[in-house]
Amino acid sequence: MTDVTPPPTVETADGLKSTPDEFQDLVRKIVISHAVNELYGAQVFDEPAIAFAPTPYAKWLTCRVAMEEYGHHVRFRELGEAIGIPSADMTPAHHRPLSIFEFPLKTWEEFCVIKLLADLAEILQVEDLLHCSFHPLRNLARMTMPEERFHAQFGKDFCTELCRTADGRAKVQEAIDRYFPYLPAFFGRKGSKNNALYRRWGIKQRTNEDMRADYLARARALVEGELKLTLPAVPEAA
Ligand SMILES: [Fe+2]
Ligand SMILES: [Fe+2]
Repeated sequence: MTDVTPPPTVETADGLKSTPDEFQDLVRKIVISHAVNELYGAQVFDEPAIAFAPTPYAKWLTCRVAMEEYGHHVRFRELGEAIGIPSADMTPAHHRPLSIFEFPLKTWEEFCVIKLLADLAEILQVEDLLHCSFHPLRNLARMTMPEERFHAQFGKDFCTELCRTADGRAKVQEAIDRYFPYLPAFFGRKGSKNNALYRRWGIKQRTNEDMRADYLARARALVEGELKLTLPAVPEAA
């Protein structure tokens, strides 16, 4: 059966109320997921990384990254509250965070690699939302994008600097080897029914497998093309 009803375009948070239940549920689900993951990432990676940062300059920039990641949570949570999600539902206690956050962060090099590679993955997700049919989410993506780009650039700049010494280079490669295997699953399952629903309603634009392939190509260009390191082979399917 093919449903050809075009997805609604919703200009305001309030406008969500007059859309079909399925559209509302999907919007709430994606807002919860962003609110939870931004908070959890800030708690397990960005805030602890301030202590690992080796110089006052690096601490200052890491503080800015942590501030922005908490800020992303605050913005998504505010949007969530505006569309009737209880704030308690937007915390890691209520909603299991993604597996990319299960990585036990222990070093500065690992944090730089996380910003290089995990924030690149986040950029792809935010790019997809730039065309979201629910405009409050599209607008949030527009506000968030420059900051996510800054985080990825932060990762690239510090990794580049670390790679200037043989020891730093070896540590960055080790951190990539340890962390990168967590990332392909971030894009979800191939042939996902959920993803098909998001696309049917114009909330998301691309399939999980398309996003993952694009991500792997961009991660490879960064790690192998620019840093001249090796991207480990990992299974692509979630
Ligand atoms: Fe973020
Ligand atoms: Fe970020």
